[in-house]
Amino acid sequence: MSFLEELNRRRTFGIISHPDAGKTTLTEKLLLFGGAINEAGAVKNNKIKKGATSDFMEIERQRGISVATSVLAFNYKGIKINILDTPGHKDFAEDTFRTLTAVDSVIVVIDVAKGVEEQTEKLIKVCRMRKIPIIVFINKLDREGKDAFDLLDEIEQKLGLKVCPLSFPIGMGYDFKGIYNIWEKKLNLFDGAVKQTISKGIEFNHLENPELDKIIGKKAATELREETELIYEVYPKFNKNDYLNGELQPVFFGSALNNFGVKELLDCFINIAPCPQPKMSDTRLVQATENKLTGFVFKIHANMDPKHRDRLAFIKIVSGIFKRNTNYLHVRLNKKMKFSSPNAFFAEKKEIVDTSFPGDIVGLHDTGNFKIGDTLTEGELLNFKGIPSFSPEYFRYINNADPLKSKQLAKGIDQLMDEGVAQLFLLNLNGRKVIGTVGALQFEVIQYRLEHEYGAKCTYENLNMHKVCWVAPQDPKNEEYATFLRVKQRYLAKDKEGQLVFLADSAFTIQMTQSKYPSVVLHFTSEF
Ligand code: G4P
Repeated sequence: MSFLEELNRRRTFGIISHPDAGKTTLTEKLLLFGGAINEAGAVKNNKIKKGATSDFMEIERQRGISVATSVLAFNYKGIKINILDTPGHKDFAEDTFRTLTAVDSVIVVIDVAKGVEEQTEKLIKVCRMRKIPIIVFINKLDREGKDAFDLLDEIEQKLGLKVCPLSFPIGMGYDFKGIYNIWEKKLNLFDGAVKQTISKGIEFNHLENPELDKIIGKKAATELREETELIYEVYPKFNKNDYLNGELQPVFFGSALNNFGVKELLDCFINIAPCPQPKMSDTRLVQATENKLTGFVFKIHANMDPKHRDRLAFIKIVSGIFKRNTNYLHVRLNKKMKFSSPNAFFAEKKEIVDTSFPGDIVGLHDTGNFKIGDTLTEGELLNFKGIPSFSPEYFRYINNADPLKSKQLAKGIDQLMDEGVAQLFLLNLNGRKVIGTVGALQFEVIQYRLEHEYGAKCTYENLNMHKVCWVAPQDPKNEEYATFLRVKQRYLAKDKEGQLVFLADSAFTIQMTQSKYPSVVLHFTSEF
């Protein structure tokens, strides 16, 4: 297959949702279609146990929260699909935001009973800012939920999307009869008794066909006719370009648990979802079709396999072909590196691969060379943009609880920060270490991982801070800047890159500081 054929058959996307909407279940069902996991096991257990496939970490199995973002690849109808799974829990939102820099499109899962939830709103905001194409999957139709039209309204209003239903439910919950697939003009009937079977659609080009009354009953047939008529009147007609430009969002209904509506989603997805897209760097726009390799690290995961203490940097290939045992430039370190065992991910298996193409995710064994955001090229000096750190919202001093293990603690903290689990700040005044996170849960994760992966123990001390602001560097001779540094020295620290930050204890403090020192520019993300 030629380079362009390989590129065009790739679809790299993320599934996002509020926790419990059914992201893991949908991922697993998609993997079933791709033959990447064994259907027999899934049927026997009714559903695959949480943690069996898309979640690697022990801690997650304990908590039942998708903590780590995992990568899964499979082939379906000749298309190579790369799914980047994302943690739904808000405390791991930064991990999800970073993953969104590596996807070309997303599928958002919404629970029909709960509607649009808080976490979905935040994530969709980021997708809209980046104009990422979005498909909506409304899940759990086998349960009672909100009226389909009300839900479509809610999605438009709360998420700011312009929806275009490509399937529509017939009934819901106890009365759920199936789905009319507007995209393929087919009727798919739900058989609650034979869960997990993939129903074959019945062609139904014209819903006026009286056969419909016989199949689903007169009442349901009349309702469906009225509803589809309304859909054609009220919602825009599907247009692939609008979808690809992030201006129109197709909607599907179904039940991931019952494997209903998932195939329709997937069949449409491979047809319309974008292949690998160009990406902006600090010097130019890099096209996926370029022959020379470029790629960037969007995730680092240490100790994925507890049996082998390994650390993997996940690289998204932006252009060119990634080849095993070939020298590439690590731009930040200005260092040539080659990789003898790059990994690709197939469900729960990792495999060494000789070549990877744009859109693919490669896992590189790392001994501490990589940080999130690092770029690999064939020699060109460019850095991909768009993986900034956001200000954490929770802050604590971290102290060593076992003096004999201070080296292990330092190493553990260092590696966890490179993975982007949290951010570390060193106070200018006394060198104390402050950990900042976006959620309180992360402190527990850090403590747990330091102990289980590095044999180190830590304690925390509360620190009442509101946010950190990155201070734009200036000539220290500038009088106002010098005064700011002197007056605020107790609140100044360095982040892991050595950038100066200001720890503010309230929104008011930030406001006051800005008005008192107008020439000192404060930023709310690390990339400015
Ligand atoms: P998440 O990754 O988005 O957090 O959600 P997950 O897939 O883990 O699903 C959350 C819960 O919703 C699970 O139940 C799952 O079985 C259920 N679920 C997913 N899809 C459907 C669906 O289409 N219909 C119905 N009725 N339920 C669905 P749980 O009880 O939390 O987990 P488990 O005990 O079954 O593992």
